[in-house]
Amino acid sequence: MKRQKSALHFTLFFRPMRIDVITIFPEVIEAGTDYSIIKRAKDKCVLDVKVHNLRDYTHDRHKSTDDEPFGPGAGMVMKPEPLFEAVEAIRSTAGDEGKVLLMTPQGEPFSQQVARELSREDHLIVICGHYEGVDERVREHLVDREISIGDYVLTGGELPALVVIDAVARLVPGTLGKDESSVEESFTEGLLEYPHYTRPAEFRGWRVPEVLISGHHAKIAEWRRKMSLKRTLERRPDLLERARLTDQDRKILLDLLSEKEAQSKNTGTHNSVEEDNNADY
Ligand SMILES: C[S@@+](CC[C@H](N)C(=O)[O-])C[C@H]1O[C@@H](n2cnc3c(N)ncnc32)[C@H](O)[C@@H]1O
Repeated sequence: MKRQKSALHFTLFFRPMRIDVITIFPEVIEAGTDYSIIKRAKDKCVLDVKVHNLRDYTHDRHKSTDDEPFGPGAGMVMKPEPLFEAVEAIRSTAGDEGKVLLMTPQGEPFSQQVARELSREDHLIVICGHYEGVDERVREHLVDREISIGDYVLTGGELPALVVIDAVARLVPGTLGKDESSVEESFTEGLLEYPHYTRPAEFRGWRVPEVLISGHHAKIAEWRRKMSLKRTLERRPDLLERARLTDQDRKILLDLLSEKEAQSKNTGTHNSVEEDNNADY
């Protein structure tokens, strides 16, 4: 009875996050969301991914989704009518507007922060472009947010859509198991994550940092924080400007900077990674 009640409670009060993807290559999105954590999230009804073939919203014999551009120039442009029809059909079955995302190299750069914002939406509708991209009226009158996954040009929007879906799904409550928390991952606090090690404790003469096998949880946490700061300082110092730092973090960073300065004065005596990770412990 208790179990029945909680199943009913779940159905009545919990709506999975819905993501509709509009594409001319549905099989790419289906394959890309049918494994690992995303598949599990779908199976657990945390996430509902629906894939729509844009050709189903065309009305001509050839199921055309693109046409020649106005004005001279090579390349085809995705037609507005099927894209508008697809979004409108999705909205009418979902009973809400959803947030329409267009994958485009001209969009705002995708980041953990953007993924976090999107993970708070109930319903995303993702448009995958091809050829020269979509008719400008789609961008102007249908799309809420334009997203770029980086400063390079891919052939189509399917890979970018999968990147966005994966990063967003990880942040939807219930997707990750308790052992896979996203809380400590890179970028969560504006820092890169600390290094990880597993068994054996010694491999080909390389030992894991002693502190990790000490069993001393407070010292391990301290080491991880320091390594996280060190990694970020070395690889992505730009992130430190916006990171959430404590006074203790600032002190560690100052010490790391002085260590670095001392090392560069002493050229040729740079520590190995193993020595660096074991430093002070
Ligand atoms: C060949 S690209 C079109 C590029 C477009 N002519 C331009 O210069 O901005 C085709 C489609 O791939 C997708 N795409 C390519 N690179 C992308 C990126 N870096 N981020 C997001 N989507 C991208 C978009 O959906 C785009 O409409």
